[in-house]
Amino acid sequence: MPETESSSPRPFFYPQPGAALHCGAVSLETLARRFDTPLYVYSADQIVARLRLFEQALAGREHLVCYAVKANSALAILKLLSQNGAGFDIVSGGELQRVLAAAPDAVARVIFSGVGKTAAEIDLALKTGILQFNVESEAELKLLAARARKFRIRARFALRVNPDIFADTHPYISTGLREHKFGIDIRRALGIYKSAVNDRWLEAHGVSVHIGSQIRSAVPFGAAIERVSKLVQQLSREGIAIQSIDAGGGLGIDYHAGAFDAAAKVREYAAVLEHALGGFAGSLLIEPGRFLVAQAGALVARVPYVKRNGKKTFVITDAAMNDLIRPALYQAWHEIVPVRPRAGKARIVDVVGPICESGDFFARDRKLAPVEPGDLVALLDAGAYGMAQSSNYNTRPRAAEVLVEGNKARLIRRRESMADLLAPEVV
Ligand code: LLP
Repeated sequence: MPETESSSPRPFFYPQPGAALHCGAVSLETLARRFDTPLYVYSADQIVARLRLFEQALAGREHLVCYAVKANSALAILKLLSQNGAGFDIVSGGELQRVLAAAPDAVARVIFSGVGKTAAEIDLALKTGILQFNVESEAELKLLAARARKFRIRARFALRVNPDIFADTHPYISTGLREHKFGIDIRRALGIYKSAVNDRWLEAHGVSVHIGSQIRSAVPFGAAIERVSKLVQQLSREGIAIQSIDAGGGLGIDYHAGAFDAAAKVREYAAVLEHALGGFAGSLLIEPGRFLVAQAGALVARVPYVKRNGKKTFVITDAAMNDLIRPALYQAWHEIVPVRPRAGKARIVDVVGPICESGDFFARDRKLAPVEPGDLVALLDAGAYGMAQSSNYNTRPRAAEVLVEGNKARLIRRRESMADLLAPEVV
């Protein structure tokens, strides 16, 4: 449970006993009154602090932190990260448009991943001058070469190799095994690089790898980079000089209450990568998403009802799986805390949303501090893959988002209106 600002890995804390949960200097109770619920609240200070951890840990070599836009693509957050030197990892033309809208100067720091890039997406990325295409198949490389030739723009590419490394995480977010759809079998990469050498519109700029997400141990990252380093040495012997190695994203956080030393985690991760890079003298790219933004965010919800069915107690919130789908989709754990704690005993409850599915839950059989109808609760560590994976299921307008910077809070996305939802439709 968050207690004090300094002991918490999160920016959410109670300034004194009996007070409301705060984000920095701002009370979540005040924010809920001002902006209503469900409400996403993010700490800009923590996002920047997390970025700095990577910058410091990688200071010994040329590097670029390319924030994975998919984790939280709010324009204000992209701008904040860009102002602090980050590049971006994108996976769609839409994400590129977001970067162009929020931080046009950062386009030279963009890398483009994804298994299904269309010609239109490639064209936009070529014309805007992104740093690197992470190519996931031979067919994609062929398409990239054709588009580059058409526009007479040289395309810098990396093959995203599949290193066949097992990473212990949820099967939906593990990507580094040969059975996954991602990347090119590392054993075939050398031949493909060699075949690209004679194409003047292609530049073999890097090698990339991404083995999955929410990976808590640094070990599999090291194993993947060792394989990549070997490939880079082979390429070098063939006269192909690789300038950057992209280690992907995936570093996990601790979703449970309790001590989590983010700085130590990043240092360990950086040391493992550095060791695995061996004598590689080029630059290191990384694509963290979750680690930068997850713990900076909370989803604040109001509790309209508490009801009992048989032996079970259900705490019903006005947020639902359409706002935060991680528990329903990955059986993910999010700490849930009352915004203003009450005296009394904790109870075992299910915390659920109003959507008409039994899968619409945030927690099952969870020991929760007492809450009464009308109270506010905060779902913690919701800054990554929360709003970004939200939907309008059950015709629920998407939540508003607030960014807290120092002692100021500002609305960075207004709550959707019914007019927004109905606008694209025809009766
Ligand atoms: N790079 C690539 C190529 C990726 O596919 C991903 C995430 C990342 C970087 C960033 O990974 P991160 O550092 O955030 O772990 N919706 C799931 C997570 C899906 C991750 C997909 N790819 C969740 O809520 O846990």
